[in-house]
Amino acid sequence: MAAVRLLPQVEAQQGTEAEECHSFGWCLVFKGKHQAEGKIMRVFVTGATGALGRHLVPGLVAAGHEVTATTRTPGKVAQLREAGAEPVILDGLDREAVIAAVRAAGPEVVVHQMTALAGMRSFRNPDKAFAATNELRTRGTDNLLAAAARAGTRRVIAQGYAGAGPDKPSGGRLKTEEDPPDWRPIRSAVQGPAAITYVDKTVPLEAPEGVVLRYGTFYGPGASDILLEMLRKRQLPVVGGGTGIWSFVEISDAAAATLVAVGHGAPGVYNVVDDDPAPVAEWLPYLAKAAGAKPPLRVPAWLGRLLAGEFVVAQMTTSRGSSNEKARKELGWEPRYASWREGFRAWVSG
Ligand SMILES: NC(=O)c1ccc[n+]([C@@H]2O[C@H](COP(=O)([O-])OP(=O)(O)OC[C@H]3O[C@@H](n4cnc5c(N)ncnc54)[C@H](OP(=O)(O)O)[C@@H]3O)[C@@H](O)[C@H]2O)c1
Repeated sequence: MAAVRLLPQVEAQQGTEAEECHSFGWCLVFKGKHQAEGKIMRVFVTGATGALGRHLVPGLVAAGHEVTATTRTPGKVAQLREAGAEPVILDGLDREAVIAAVRAAGPEVVVHQMTALAGMRSFRNPDKAFAATNELRTRGTDNLLAAAARAGTRRVIAQGYAGAGPDKPSGGRLKTEEDPPDWRPIRSAVQGPAAITYVDKTVPLEAPEGVVLRYGTFYGPGASDILLEMLRKRQLPVVGGGTGIWSFVEISDAAAATLVAVGHGAPGVYNVVDDDPAPVAEWLPYLAKAAGAKPPLRVPAWLGRLLAGEFVVAQMTTSRGSSNEKARKELGWEPRYASWREGFRAWVSG
């Protein structure tokens, strides 16, 4: 496997070339233990085996931090240990267990990356499909905030969302962190937006240093593979003209932003997206071509509604993009893939 510059920020700090050293899934990190700029910290990562955690944990370890990493699954303990973390088996919804685990680790930073999104195919009833994730974003967040308070943890970083959503058709093309939520009311998709808004509001309010990273739609190694699969089967049409704007972020870029936020940045909300928000009508055919698939079908909104439901039609037609200006300026984070154009090509060829 070719060497990958997993976290360029770490590499820049070290002035070294990335080298293969772990076999943690597809993650490649740097040989040896490095002292990143700034303080070495104890970091408690929940959702450590997920799409983002798999990139984040080796990055934190490479930067010299002491990492405690959680999973619910005994079979995943070895991969966390191999990545250089101290594994803990934990259900994020078991409040007492969460408090005990965080107190035992005594971290300076807690990172919340718990979601339950694997294997999802249908968004016809989003409140049902996202129910477990919504609970992790509300009750799971509360549990971690309570645990962090008891452990004297300074900084809590949580996963927010700036990917495709059912935004109202009005409003500008791009949202900043200052813009109020602008969700389009959809009867079957009430709890998801509420849970995302809950994270946005509660984490900065309750933690001494609460940071919410609103990631764009993930793609890259181990992320959103279902998009590729559906495109190759021609199951992902452009709906209703494809006027919805999507903001993407490549998965190792998202992990790099998270690594930066462990040690830098004022508390608050940050959009972690690339520089190139784009309409579905542009990026979907581009991805299909890059992946060697036939061009996506085009279907009118009424047919899209019938096939996939109102939520997907809204994502494809009225979704708005997000600006990354704040994260660039205040975190000093720069995506390696400034546009999904280069990123998609690297993804499908990797
Ligand atoms: N912004 C975005 O576009 C976005 C955001 C998130 C995910 N996604 C996509 O969704 C797909 C699936 O995401 P994923 O790979 O991260 O998988 P996932 O199924 O969402 O799991 C994420 C992590 O949460 C943990 N988790 C789930 N329930 C938990 C609970 N009750 N207590 C403690 N931990 C819990 C899982 O740990 P264990 O299973 O090890 O216990 C795992 O580490 C991917 O394609 C990804 O790209 C997209």
